Amino acid sequence: MAKSLHDLLQSGLRAGATVALRADFNVPLASGRVADAVRVERTVPSIVQLLDARARVVLLSHLGRPGGRIVPELSLRPVSRFLAGCLRAPVRFIPHTAGAAVREAVAEMPQGSVSLVENTRFLPGETGNDPALAADWARWSDHYVLDAFGTAHRAHASTDGLPRAVRAKGGEAVAGGLVERELAVLAQVLERPGRPHVAILGGAKISGKIHVIEALLPKVDVLLVGGAMANTFFMAMGMRTGASLVEAGASGTASRLLVEAGSRLVLPVDCVVAKSTEPGAHTRVVDRGGICPDDIVVDIGPTTVRLFQDYISRASTVVWNGPMGLFEVAGFEGGTFGIARAAADVADSGATVIVGGGDSAAAARAAGVAPRLGHISTGGGACLDLLAGKALPGIEALSGRSDHGGRT
Ligand code: 3PG
Repeated sequence: MAKSLHDLLQSGLRAGATVALRADFNVPLASGRVADAVRVERTVPSIVQLLDARARVVLLSHLGRPGGRIVPELSLRPVSRFLAGCLRAPVRFIPHTAGAAVREAVAEMPQGSVSLVENTRFLPGETGNDPALAADWARWSDHYVLDAFGTAHRAHASTDGLPRAVRAKGGEAVAGGLVERELAVLAQVLERPGRPHVAILGGAKISGKIHVIEALLPKVDVLLVGGAMANTFFMAMGMRTGASLVEAGASGTASRLLVEAGSRLVLPVDCVVAKSTEPGAHTRVVDRGGICPDDIVVDIGPTTVRLFQDYISRASTVVWNGPMGLFEVAGFEGGTFGIARAAADVADSGATVIVGGGDSAAAARAAGVAPRLGHISTGGGACLDLLAGKALPGIEALSGRSDHGGRT
């Protein structure tokens, strides 16, 4: 088990020590402002603890996928302004990612101050896990804190190389409070789930979630499937899917999963269909066997919502990842919001509810039930990998384990 920030602070962190804190500030921006604050806000406690200990906190994060080059729209500067508001303290933005400019800026930092360096993915060495980049950051890092749960499934320079380099020079590499809480909540669900255990999976693709479906099936009592992912199962069952999004290449996998899962895998029995995905498009509710050639499935139907709500209402553990349809388009949100409300109701009655993935979290917020849901994970892919039983490279690196399965 990796050490925690709490351990680092208890061991008597030296005032003035420089701590590299890898955050996940990969947040949506709208007109140059942070549009979803959750990831930033949840990192604030770790930063505050370090500032209280008079550390010099240097924050590292990626934003988007700039592909190893400078993309001005993906600068972290707006996040630094937002973070300063959260901390009610100045945050110095360093408009460089690595090298002498960062070293000099870090050297000037007073005790008990915080800086944010520019987007780590502006350098190709980040996603390439370049040891030279990790060594460059390690030059000024006495210790390392991972608070980027959402990026812990990436073996990148800032999540893998840097913690290893810090450990190699005698520093500590520890998990921050955000990461600790995510791991604790998800471990409880993985190891000791209350029964019945219901998983709800949605979203577009089966292929990205096959490992999760396979890992969850033996663990859950029921797996409810919605979203475009359900269409691929319909196709595998020989049903028509009209003009809907399907993953033809995953049809064989879907057939195999249907056989393996038997009655534990529950698919929609009816669907909301439209001829286009434009807001306000005319919709119809059809039986799942009644999808016409030019129909697009945009949501689960009302009978399915009631069916899924019934399973959810009797659950003791609910894991939800992925929307039931195109909930972000006005008129197609009913199924996803119905599931969000059912999850909130069962959470109110004491069930453990975990929501993973940015889309489901956004749906929960749009449905107005987010505060009632037990745990909305800050991780999408990381949450899915953990649920699938995979080790996360960022966590492995904290304890010096070397195997990250070649994942980047
Ligand atoms: C996320 O948003 O899931 C994380 O920040 C990781 O981003 P990535 O999928 O671009 O690596």
